[in-house]
Amino acid sequence: LKLGVLISGRGSNLQALIDACAAPDFPAEIVLVLSNKADAFGLERAAKAGIPTAVVSHRDFPGDKAAFETAMDAQLRQAGVQLVCLAGFMRLLSPLFVTLWNDALINIHPSLLPSFKGLDTHERALETGVRFHGCTVHYVRAEMDAGPIIAQAAVPVLPGDDAHALADRVLESEHALYPHAVRLIAEGRARVDGAVVRINGVSQ
Ligand code: GRF
Repeated sequence: LKLGVLISGRGSNLQALIDACAAPDFPAEIVLVLSNKADAFGLERAAKAGIPTAVVSHRDFPGDKAAFETAMDAQLRQAGVQLVCLAGFMRLLSPLFVTLWNDALINIHPSLLPSFKGLDTHERALETGVRFHGCTVHYVRAEMDAGPIIAQAAVPVLPGDDAHALADRVLESEHALYPHAVRLIAEGRARVDGAVVRINGVSQ
């Protein structure tokens, strides 16, 4: 399965996907890393791995999100991308792009959805006093951080955690979860069925 990874920054989830794809039996390859920021560190990670990169800056399309998204779409199609993976991509995508990539667009979010959509998830988890937190890989729908859930990983919230410590623990779980979710899709084991994803015919 040919992957396009969209990033805006650090790219540690991108790195986890690069590392997973390096295994000979992994059923996916990254054919393009696309960033909306020219200085995203993830672009260096991609270059180091010999993966083609492109930058489509939202700043080049002031007030015209459709043009920005059409430019990204063109890059992805040109590279032969079959599945778009958002990995720390910090622009909200409009229904236009979400529809163009319906059921071929996934995101990783640092919480156990549907809890804590949006930003500052670790701070909010601590404020709320949940005992478990984690991450979710889901298909993208027009509504932010919604869409059928493919996979989740839970981590404990430990006494004495601050947001930084909790974020580190969640991030480590993200790096295992994202390749796992991509593998499920690439092997045809994750099937969208209305609002949920069925894994091998079993709802999880
Ligand atoms: C991750 O926590 C991801 O879940 C969230 O943004 C962060 C991106 O980190 N959407 P990185 O760029 O993959 O290191």
